[in-house]
Amino acid sequence: MPPWRSYPLALIVSTMPSQWKLLKALVSLAFPCVVAALNNGVGVKPAMGWNPYNAFACSTTEAMYHTQAQSVVSLGLLAVGYQYINLDCGWQATSRDSAGKFQWSNKTLPAGVPALATFVHNLGLKFGVYTDLGVFACDTVGGTAHFIGSLGHETSDVASYASWGADYVKVDNCFAVNSTDFVDFDPPISIKDHFTTMRDALAAAGRPILFSACEWGVQDPARWPGGSVANSWRISNDIGPPNTWDNIFRIMNQVVPITGFAAPGGFNDLDMLEVGNSGLTTAEQQTHFAFWAATKSPLIISTDLTKASTQTLNILKNTRIISLNQDALGKSIAFKRRYTNDHDIWSGPLSDGSTVALVINWQSSSRSLTFNLADVGFSSATATDLITGTSLGKVTTSITQTVSAHGSMVLKLTNGIAAPTPTFTFYPAASGTLAGGATTRAVNSSITVVGFVGNGGTLTLSNVDGGASGGTKLLSFDYINGDVTFSNTACSNCRNTLVSVNGGTGVQVQMPISAQSWDILLSGYLVSLPGFKAGKTNTITLSNPSAFTPDFYRVGVAV
Ligand code: GAL
Repeated sequence: MPPWRSYPLALIVSTMPSQWKLLKALVSLAFPCVVAALNNGVGVKPAMGWNPYNAFACSTTEAMYHTQAQSVVSLGLLAVGYQYINLDCGWQATSRDSAGKFQWSNKTLPAGVPALATFVHNLGLKFGVYTDLGVFACDTVGGTAHFIGSLGHETSDVASYASWGADYVKVDNCFAVNSTDFVDFDPPISIKDHFTTMRDALAAAGRPILFSACEWGVQDPARWPGGSVANSWRISNDIGPPNTWDNIFRIMNQVVPITGFAAPGGFNDLDMLEVGNSGLTTAEQQTHFAFWAATKSPLIISTDLTKASTQTLNILKNTRIISLNQDALGKSIAFKRRYTNDHDIWSGPLSDGSTVALVINWQSSSRSLTFNLADVGFSSATATDLITGTSLGKVTTSITQTVSAHGSMVLKLTNGIAAPTPTFTFYPAASGTLAGGATTRAVNSSITVVGFVGNGGTLTLSNVDGGASGGTKLLSFDYINGDVTFSNTACSNCRNTLVSVNGGTGVQVQMPISAQSWDILLSGYLVSLPGFKAGKTNTITLSNPSAFTPDFYRVGVAV
C-alpha cells in the first residue's frame, strides 16, 4: 500500500451513484468507444518527461530538480523525446499569500518557481507544475502536510502557473470532498466537474499547458470521456510504492476495457515509470516500458537519473519502443488473448499500416515461448524484434523465442496475411443450469447474464456440440466483470473462473475487468480446452470454489 494512503484501501469501489451508471450505460450503447480530443494544441502525442515521485516521494529539493533536469539532457534522454521536467508533491507552501495567490515553499525551492522554470527552459526542456483539485494536496504523511490545494482557486492558480512558465500541469485528487477526507476512491461528488473546472481555467490561461489529470481512475475517466477534459487521465491507483510486478499486473488488467479511448490529444495514463527503480527485474522493467509505450501512456521517467545504470538507459532510450508510443496514429494496443499463468497477447495498429504485438511471459522463469500469429489475426507476416532491432524475416504460423521471466516479445509485423477466423456456436448463459446461488440478471432489454457464479454457485451448459470428432475446442466467452480494485488482490482487476469440460478438472482462467461497472460486456475472451466428445453431448461447467467469477452472457464453441 502506498504509504501516503491513510485511507483503508480495502474499501474497493465497485459501485457508483446510479445516475452515473445509467449515463455510462447510455453512452456506451450510443458510442461504444467515444474518442474525444482536447483541442488545446499540446499533448497530441503522449507526454514524455521526468517526475521525481517514484524515486524521491515528496522530498525533492531545488538542487535535485536541477541535477535531474541536467541529467535528462546529458544522458541523451531529451534527444530521444523526454522533454518535460515536472514538479511533484512537496514544492507547495501550506498557505496562500495575503491576496490569495498560490505560493511555493521557500524551504524546498528557495530561488522560487519562476527561476526553476527558467533553469529548465534554458536547458531546452519544458516545465511542469503539480497541484491538486482538493482542499489540500497529497502528501506522504497521511494527509497531514496540508500543502495548498486549488479547489475554488483554479483560475487564479493556473494564472500563477502560466506566469511562472508552466508548460504542463499534473492535477491530483486528494481532499477532493472536504478537508478531512484524504483519499476517496468512491467520492459522493462528480470528480469530472473538478477537472472540467481546471480544464476551463487552463483554456483561459493564455499559454498552452498540457493537462495531466491524476484522479487514480476514480469514476471511470476514460468514459467521461477523459479525452474531452484532459490530455491524459490516470486509469489506476499509484503504481507504487512498493515497486512490484503485482502492480504492473493490476494496471495491465485495468486498461483492458479502455484501450479504445486512447487517441491523439487524449491518452490513458498508466502512471509514471518504475524503470530504474529497485523492485522489478530488468526483464520486468522492459515489459513495463514496452507495455506503457504501446498503450500510449505518457512515458514519465521517475527514477534517480544520477544513478541510472546502462540497463536502465538502454530500456528508456530504445527508440524503436519510443516510436510505438509517439506513433502518429495514437492508437493503443488492445488485449487479444490470455493463456492464464502462461502468456498474454496484445496488439494494435501503427500509422504505417503495420501491427505491433506484445507477448508477455507470465511465468516466473525464462523459457521457450511460442506466439501463434493467429492470436493477432495473421497466418504469416514479416517480423522485427523491436527490443533488439533484429529482423526475423517472414514468419509463418508462429514465432518461438526464449523469453525471460516476466519478459516479453515486442514485435512489429508487416505484410500480414489474414488467418481464417473461427466460427462459434453460442450458448446463452441464461439457458444453462444454475445451481448453488447462481442467478440471472437483466443488464438491459437485450442482455441477460448469469451472476453469483462461484462461492458455491455453478453454471452448466449442456448439449454443447463437440463437432465430428471432439477433442480440443476454442471457446469464446462474453462476460461482465466490474470488479475494479485500487489495491492488489489475488487476481487484481480480474476474476478467476474454473472451466470444466464434461466434469473434468476445472481449468483456471483469469478474466480481466470488462469495465468499471457491471453493465458493459467484454466479448470474445478465448480459451482452448481439451476433453470434448463428438456430437451435441458435452457439458461446460463454470465455477470457482472460493471466489466469484464474472457474470456470463454467453459461451461460444468453435466446432
Ligand atoms: C498521488 C499521485 C502520485 C503522487 C502522489 C504524491 O495521489 O497519484 O502520482 O503525485 O499523490 O503524494
